[in-house]
Amino acid sequence: MGARNTFQVLVFLPFILLFGAMSTTSLEVGYYKCKQTCPQAEDIVKGVVFKHVSKEPGLGAGLIRMFFHDCFVRGCDASVLLNKSELNPNPEKLAVPNNPSLRGFEVIDDAKSAVEQVCPGVVSCADIIAFAARDAAFILGQISYEIPSGRLDGRVSNGDEVLKALPAPFHNLTVVKALFAAQGLSTDDVVALSGAHSIGRSHCSSFTNRLYPTIDTTMDEGFGYFLRGQCPQNAMVDGVVPQDFITPNKLDKQYYQNVADLKGLFFSDWSLLTSSETASLLNDFRTTPGLFEAKFAESMVNMGNIAGLGQGEIRRICSAVNY
Ligand code: HEM
Repeated sequence: MGARNTFQVLVFLPFILLFGAMSTTSLEVGYYKCKQTCPQAEDIVKGVVFKHVSKEPGLGAGLIRMFFHDCFVRGCDASVLLNKSELNPNPEKLAVPNNPSLRGFEVIDDAKSAVEQVCPGVVSCADIIAFAARDAAFILGQISYEIPSGRLDGRVSNGDEVLKALPAPFHNLTVVKALFAAQGLSTDDVVALSGAHSIGRSHCSSFTNRLYPTIDTTMDEGFGYFLRGQCPQNAMVDGVVPQDFITPNKLDKQYYQNVADLKGLFFSDWSLLTSSETASLLNDFRTTPGLFEAKFAESMVNMGNIAGLGQGEIRRICSAVNY
């Protein structure tokens, strides 16, 4: 492990362990049906997500990533949705891993207004993110699962917490595993959830350190030259490329083939090959039909169990706390 990574683990681990140690709230499948507060909630969200994602599949990728970025920072509490305000002058939304790359906010806002029209004040934005990510996984990967709900929305969003909790594309496996473990997630979860990099896009700036001045030896050389063509050095605009050039809009096991071929975009993707445990899981997902889909579903539920912190509420609009 490099000195920089060792430093990050040592400095931030106590902090994230503290967060990870908070108990899980009791979530329930079909919460709004069981409680009779909004039986239509999940169907309404599904309708809105279908409308958006069938027009623009990239938004589905955005929603799955949004769920991840929400849950890893203060638990799944919709803290990632809060705009800058007096109470939250430096929100997560504006932190580097989220701004400008995180997308799908308009889908959540649309879903929230549609739900509010039918049952005002009862469905949390945190649950709407969880439902939307689940629906996106179905549209893009035919991956189907039930997601427990009953989350509350947090009132705090602090951009400084984002870099400490989320893995970065230059992190090695030790750091990635530690950050997942701090959230109560296993090595299996790391490998399964990484399969989300079979959809969506990346900005060039997230991986050009692997292209210049020389092509990283951890990357297929031909792929490196190809990416140089997509992401010229010192370009005026930060371009974007698909995460998976083969099936860019399909949430499928192609990611594991790409990584095995040294054609993943990030060093963190490559790092899955660096332990026998993760390499063997990767190989299983790559070769066994249906295995990735089943495990991805399970791991999304695990990620959704990361508990929120502090006092919660049901926000009236998803981008601001209630006053
Ligand atoms: C394992 C550590 C991970 C790292 C280091 C990582 C890093 C990144 C980075 C740097 C991007 C590109 C952002 C950009 O430049 O536009 C990205 C995109 C993406 N990530 Fe991850 N990620 C990780 C895990 C995950 C997980 C657990 C999920 C969800 C289950 C996920 C879902 C996605 C999706 C769907 C995209 C494409 C987003 C879009 O098209 O808008 N990632 N990730």
